[in-house]
Amino acid sequence: MSVPTEPRTAGAVAGNGTAGAGAPAPHGTSATADATGPRQLHLQLWRGDADGGGFVDYEVPALEGEVVLDVVHRIQAEHAPDLAVRWNCKAGKCGSCSAEINGKPRLMCMTRMSTLDTSQTITVSPMRAFPVMRDLVTDVSYNFVVAARIPPFTPGPPEPDGTYRMAQVDVDRGQEMRKCIECFLCQNVCHVIRDHEDNKPHYAGPRFFARLAELEMHPLDTLDRRRLVSEQLGLGLCNITKCCTEVCPEGIHITDNAIIPLKERVVDARYDPVAWLGRKLLRRPRPAPASAVAVDLPVARGAHDPTIDGRSDPAVLGRNGRRSDG
Ligand code: SF4
Ligand code: SF4
Ligand code: FES
Repeated sequence: MSVPTEPRTAGAVAGNGTAGAGAPAPHGTSATADATGPRQLHLQLWRGDADGGGFVDYEVPALEGEVVLDVVHRIQAEHAPDLAVRWNCKAGKCGSCSAEINGKPRLMCMTRMSTLDTSQTITVSPMRAFPVMRDLVTDVSYNFVVAARIPPFTPGPPEPDGTYRMAQVDVDRGQEMRKCIECFLCQNVCHVIRDHEDNKPHYAGPRFFARLAELEMHPLDTLDRRRLVSEQLGLGLCNITKCCTEVCPEGIHITDNAIIPLKERVVDARYDPVAWLGRKLLRRPRPAPASAVAVDLPVARGAHDPTIDGRSDPAVLGRNGRRSDG
């Protein structure tokens, strides 16, 4: 499956072509359209598959209170029954409807039409960092392969009374990362993979730096994933441009609260002489290296991989034999 490397611009027109002099009328346009009728919305949806495609024009009446996904659904219902679009909750919680609206990565179900300039044509295209399956649907399996490479939460033994305790501040710190809905908009916008497909095998991306930071900062976790994140998952390739933070629909401060603390911890582990001396003097046991349970699954580069979720692979299970979400 090929990955588009060029922006999917309106210049790459397929199907009915762009509206304009001499061009065929867009889907939904009536030759007898009443000028006094409801205001019309002009959209260009990217149609195609792994072999190529382009924008197709559609025109539908504007209705009050709609989000982009509503309009796409109306186009699907009335003009393009074969249009592929992925969605589930229509509430900004499942992370399925990620796309690029006017070139900006967003959730279609959380983008109100009233926030867009509807006097202009609105473009909707699939996420560019992932291979197109069909129309607006991309193959995001790369992310699941990365997820399977991260050793899960591994707590030590409980307190004598059988409980685990942690400070509220630690709960709050991890909770921010756990708001992630896995929409992968941050992965899509990160230039390290968006512009460099060949980085995917050795780059986790912002969503997973957030996951790794959550685990590394968890006071009850016993593993040390710092070498994994720096040597195999490409933390050093991130140059803190904050693009990921800007597009996160959950408002997670990915760069400030995950990536930068993670970078600091990696540096501490390698170069901080005070920390080294402290470990020596206090004889504190080092946390177990992540390699003790880390897995080295093949990294999918778009192609479907049957081991992708690792659910049946004992190598990705935690010490208790269960997969943990932390
Ligand atoms: S801050 Fe780092 S992870 Fe986020 S988009 Fe920029 S390079 Fe990518
Ligand atoms: S961190 Fe934010 S942008 Fe990235 S996958 Fe999670 S919710 Fe989406
Ligand atoms: S449909 Fe679930 S996030 Fe948009």
